[in-house]
Amino acid sequence: MQTTSANNRPVDGLAPILDFHLAASKILALADSDEKGAFSPLPLRNLVPNKELPFNVYIKCKPKDNTSPEFTLCCPQGQIFQKDWHRKLEALKVPWVYFPLQEEEAVLGYLHGNLKEVSPEDVGQDPEKAAQVLDAMLLWMQHFFTAERARTGSRMRMALDFIDLVFEFIKTNNAYLNLTTAIKKINYHDKFLFKHSLNVCIFGLAFFNYLGLQDQDAKLFGVGALLHDLGMTQVPPQILCKTEALDEEEMKLIKRHPLLSYHMLKNLSYFPQAPMLMVQQHHENGDGSGYPLKLTGNAIHPWARILRVIDSYESVTSGRPWRQAKSPKETLWNMRHEWEESRIYDRAILQAFIKFLGDVD
Ligand SMILES: [Fe+2]
Repeated sequence: MQTTSANNRPVDGLAPILDFHLAASKILALADSDEKGAFSPLPLRNLVPNKELPFNVYIKCKPKDNTSPEFTLCCPQGQIFQKDWHRKLEALKVPWVYFPLQEEEAVLGYLHGNLKEVSPEDVGQDPEKAAQVLDAMLLWMQHFFTAERARTGSRMRMALDFIDLVFEFIKTNNAYLNLTTAIKKINYHDKFLFKHSLNVCIFGLAFFNYLGLQDQDAKLFGVGALLHDLGMTQVPPQILCKTEALDEEEMKLIKRHPLLSYHMLKNLSYFPQAPMLMVQQHHENGDGSGYPLKLTGNAIHPWARILRVIDSYESVTSGRPWRQAKSPKETLWNMRHEWEESRIYDRAILQAFIKFLGDVD
C-alpha cells in the first residue's frame, strides 16, 4: 500500500514504514516514562483512523544494528492516518506514538476537535474514551504550566470547554469512576503536579455536583481546581522532589505558590474572581494557621474551603516523593478522627465530603 495524502494522492518520497517492514527491520522500543527531548508521547487511542492529521506523527524505533532508538516519521502532517496502521500498532502492542514538541498547538486543536464527537454515554461506558479526555487535558496542562506563551484567553476558553465536557460526563452517568481510574493509569508522564491537578479537578467537579451547586458555576470551580497549584512551576524542582524534610527557607519557597499562582493568572481574560480566590486561598485554614494571608472561617471563600478538603485528600491518597500514599480507607479514618477535631477544615464541607466518598465508592 502506498501512503496517501488527504485527497488520497500518493506522497512522493515518503517511507511507508507502517505499510511494510515495521516488524521485519525495526524493533519498536517502548517510551520511557521520563521521556525528554524534542518529542512528546501521545497515546495511540487519540489518532482517529482514516482522518487527516494536522501534525507529524513519529514512532520510536530501534534498528537491529543500532543500540540507540530513533524517531521515525510514520505519518506526515496533512496525511490520513490509515485504519490498518492503527491495527498494526495495536497488534504490536505499541501504546503510543510521538509528535514534535513545537507542534503541540496543532495536536491540542486536533484533540479538542475529537472530543466534540464524544458523548457522555461513550465516556460512561468506555474507559478508553474517558482516557482520551484526560490525554487532552494533560497535554493542555503540560503546555499551559510550562510555556508562558500558552497562557492566553483562547487557551482558557479551551480549558473551560474541557471542564464543561467533563462536568457533563460526570452529571449524566458513572463517568466519574472511569475518569479517576484513567488518571491512575496515566503512565507516560512523570509530573505528579499534573496528575494531582487533574485529579483535584475531576474530584472537585464530582463533589460539586454532589453538593447540588449551580451547573453554570461548575466550570469556574473546575478551572480554579485545575490551576490552583500553577505557582508550583516556579519552585525549583530539587525542592519539589526532595525526599527529606524541607528546611525553613525551602518551606518559605513552597508557601509562596498560592500567591505565585494568583499573579500568573490575574491578567488573563476568562479568569473571573471566584476561581482567583480559590487559587489564592486554597492553603488558608479555618483557624488562621494557613497561608499566605492567615484568613479565618468565613473570610475564606466557600469554594476555597471546598478545595482545601479535596486538595488534602488527594495528596494524602496519592503520595509524594517524600511520603507514601495512604489508602482511601485509612485517609477517611484519619479524616473522621483527626480532621474533624481540628478547625482547619470547614466542618460542614468535610462531613459532606466524607459522605460523598462513601456514596461513590
Ligand atoms: Fe497548593
